[in-house]
Amino acid sequence: MAMSAGALPKSVRIVEVGPRDGLQNESAVVPLAAKVALIEALVGAGLKTIESGSFVSPKWVPQMADTAEVMAAITRTPGVSYPVLVPNLKGLEAAVAAGVEEIAVFGAASESFSQKNINCSIADSLERFRPVVDAALARGIRVRGYISCVLGCPYEGDVAPAAVASVAKALADMGCYEISLGDTIGTGTPLKAQAMIRAVQAVVPVERLAVHFHDTWGQALANILACLELGVAVIDSAVAGLGGCPYAKGATGNVATEDVVYMLDGMGIRTGVDLAKLAAAGRAITAVIGKAPASKVAQVLAKQQAA
Ligand code: HMG
Ligand code: MG
Repeated sequence: MAMSAGALPKSVRIVEVGPRDGLQNESAVVPLAAKVALIEALVGAGLKTIESGSFVSPKWVPQMADTAEVMAAITRTPGVSYPVLVPNLKGLEAAVAAGVEEIAVFGAASESFSQKNINCSIADSLERFRPVVDAALARGIRVRGYISCVLGCPYEGDVAPAAVASVAKALADMGCYEISLGDTIGTGTPLKAQAMIRAVQAVVPVERLAVHFHDTWGQALANILACLELGVAVIDSAVAGLGGCPYAKGATGNVATEDVVYMLDGMGIRTGVDLAKLAAAGRAITAVIGKAPASKVAQVLAKQQAA
């Protein structure tokens, strides 16, 4: 199977997930002020969608327990969206109280991961999401839908593209404006990613698809390029390559936003993101958590900055 080379998009929307996916898996407690500074620095770098936290059970993900405080403390810039994850009606209540304008529900294409991550089957999760989506839409809150394990599951191994397509259709039919396809454990490779996108785009238009690659196996940029060639124009990424899911052991960070922006800049694809400012935001948050940025681009820029 040869990789298809279609027309590449002229611009890409980056969904920055660092403050949520990036920080949910950190063992270090990140102070509220550092979270707020990160979100504001990302806005300053030109990002227009910044996933800023999760209204999930604090017993399951203690790192996100201060999301209400984060939402209250940030200065909301017009034209910037600050979505949060919401697993159920309790989470929606908290999101509404925090004045959130966009939420994301999150399901999976694999039964075992669904059980481990949100403690229910795929079918039950869809039933649980339906009233959440209905209530959110009735209040004018936009809803995004995530699907985890689209290219492999930490518990089950291979995941069939048809399983991903079926969950994607259910979430789109429910009213999710966009479906983010998550390679949670980063095992995917470009041709498998294209086969998965083809299966999904047969039931949900490609304009409504986003890709969410974790870079555990170093395949994320190659996979992104393969998906861009099929018309995907929304990419999730995390500054400094932070990230990981507590329920996908061993999975490392999301593809780094710095790496994505550098690649797209080099291809003449607009993102609206200032790479130098973005890298500075990455250096600041990694200093707080005591890690070096995972991004190669960020490492080069840090050396240039220090020279
Ligand atoms: P459960 O234990 O089945 O829920 O968990 P429950 O309804 O029985 O409630 C248990 C307790 O949690 C109760 O408290 C509830 O009040 C509380 P208690 O009576 O024991 O004191 N609770 C909540 N508290 C605050 N906010 C809420 C909430 N809901 C219940 N919204 C549940 C089910 C879904 C709640 C749990 O499994 C959970 O919170 N899971 C979240 C897991 C998570 O956040 N994972 C990471 C995000 S997904 C991800 O990273 C993948 C992604 O990046 C894409 C990719 O890479 O693939 C998106
Ligand atoms: Mg993720």
